[in-house]
Amino acid sequence: MCGIVAYIGPREAYPIVLKGLKRLEYRGYDSSGVALLNKGLKVYKKKGKVAELEDSLIGKDLHANTGMGHTRWATHGEPSDRNAHPHTSANGKLAMIHNGIIENYTQLKQELTKKGYKFHSDTDTEVLLNFIQDIQEHNECGLEEALRIALKRVVGAYVIILLDHDNPDTIIAARKGSPLVIGVGKGEHFLASDASPIIEYTKEVVYVNDYELAIIKADELVLKNLGNEKLTPFIQKLDLELAAIEKGGYDHFMLKEIFEQPATIFDCLRGRLDVAAGTITMAGVQKNIEKLTSANRIVMVACGTSWHAGLVAEYVFEELCRIPVEVEYASEFRYRNPVVREGDVIFAISQSGETADTIVAIEKAKENGAFIFGVVNVVGSSIARVSHAGAYTHAGPEIGVASTKAFTAQLAVLIMIALKIAWEKGTIDQQRYNHLLQELHEIPEKVAEALRHDDEIKRIANKYKDAQDFLYLGRGYNFPIALEGALKMKEISYIHAEGYPAAEMKHGPIALVDKDLPVVFVATKDSYHEKIISNIQEIKARKGMVLAVISEGDETITGMADDIMIVPEADELVAPLLSVIPMQLLSYHVGIAKNLDVDKPRNLAKSVTVE
Ligand code: M6R
Repeated sequence: MCGIVAYIGPREAYPIVLKGLKRLEYRGYDSSGVALLNKGLKVYKKKGKVAELEDSLIGKDLHANTGMGHTRWATHGEPSDRNAHPHTSANGKLAMIHNGIIENYTQLKQELTKKGYKFHSDTDTEVLLNFIQDIQEHNECGLEEALRIALKRVVGAYVIILLDHDNPDTIIAARKGSPLVIGVGKGEHFLASDASPIIEYTKEVVYVNDYELAIIKADELVLKNLGNEKLTPFIQKLDLELAAIEKGGYDHFMLKEIFEQPATIFDCLRGRLDVAAGTITMAGVQKNIEKLTSANRIVMVACGTSWHAGLVAEYVFEELCRIPVEVEYASEFRYRNPVVREGDVIFAISQSGETADTIVAIEKAKENGAFIFGVVNVVGSSIARVSHAGAYTHAGPEIGVASTKAFTAQLAVLIMIALKIAWEKGTIDQQRYNHLLQELHEIPEKVAEALRHDDEIKRIANKYKDAQDFLYLGRGYNFPIALEGALKMKEISYIHAEGYPAAEMKHGPIALVDKDLPVVFVATKDSYHEKIISNIQEIKARKGMVLAVISEGDETITGMADDIMIVPEADELVAPLLSVIPMQLLSYHVGIAKNLDVDKPRNLAKSVTVE
């Protein structure tokens, strides 16, 4: 949440910062701003998307070799010019950008107000900045020392970057709970929330850890802890190509990412699934197989779409491994007093690996003795690091705010893990095991087949684009896909949509059904098929419109539904990997038909690094 970027070196900072902001815009786009340090400190900021900031800066003197920028997802204070970052300290000497939340900012603000400080924004960021200035003046110390003292009082999460008018050759940054990557170039450094603004300049990066400070000059990077001890920066090579973060000829990242799924699922299975040998090779699973097979219970902890992947996994793990599974919203789990014991295995599922609620939930579970297994997309992210072990989903950078390819990669990883545990535990027989390996192996090609129906789904989207509400229904493995379909529709098209277990419909939601309500049934051929056909009839009897996701060749539902979305037939355990594809395409095309910004839906941000 919020994207931050900075540069120090011999090049012009502004073009680098601006390009970086455009790459990071998926993290928040309420307002943006830049600070440039040349002979003086110049700060420009604007409500709205980065393009609006760019337009407003045409003709300005933007020359500087040190600069930073911020694209905001509002937490404290409405989206506006005055709440946009960077903020400037009361004495005008410091500028700061911040990603995160300072939880005790009210108390700090009161203290500063008593001392006569005036605030020009509603943000917690401005409070922290003036708190730093105040410490600097009171202790007559440098910025680095003042920052260290300030951070010891701060409660909350942050990545902050500071520019100091009096030290134009230095950038100071600090991290706790939000991501920060430093790109190490030749005589230059780049800072960003993720590697996307950095990769075209250098592949050598340092991931800053919590409670670390970075003091950066063009040709020097010093890392310290809050105790002022120097640390050795661990330089890693980025395994990321520029093409992976560009649209590659598609109109939108969301569409590109939907169409990438045959390849991303293939990448996820590659080197792990070997049908001929009948093996699944996953180092993180193999090393901890004892812990996983002897788990008393498994808890899937996640948010949003990743939570839906956890729900599918619940069905899969219980069926194959015969281990009780619970699925928890990280935000609820962390605040209750959940019973977590040794012998519990927590699966933390996250695309970004930076979701604040998921991080805190697993930290708490870890304290109580649970074993944490991360299923994460972003390599080196916080959840990957907090987990005892894990498996990456290898879906590549997901830039569209709506999660698509990360979800199917999560499903593929979770199904492989369940199969591996089941095989080791002896809860699956050879024939079913081999059959499911083969079914998984065929998924990339079947997803490609499902995508070939895109034009048909576009036609359906145009037919229903003006609906006020949608109801999504599914049973068994497809129930979480109904939830996911509804979530996609809400976030991309701003249409109210509800997902429900199809059989629960009779306990309330059926009252909503009339001729104007499109009801989407996720009804591929599975052991619930006859039951869901009855549910479809119940809707048709009440004049509801039925859109059904069906397996190829399903004449029965074809004859009943108003519109059908076809996917290839597959074993019900892997079918969610297919039935979600029309759900993604439907929401995308409705969003496009309504002329909405599908890559950056209103009010959302890609990575929710605040509670
Ligand atoms: O990065 P994570 O997987 O932890 O993110 C979880 C949710 O914030 C995310 O899935 C969100 O719901 C997406 N906008 C869904 O498309």
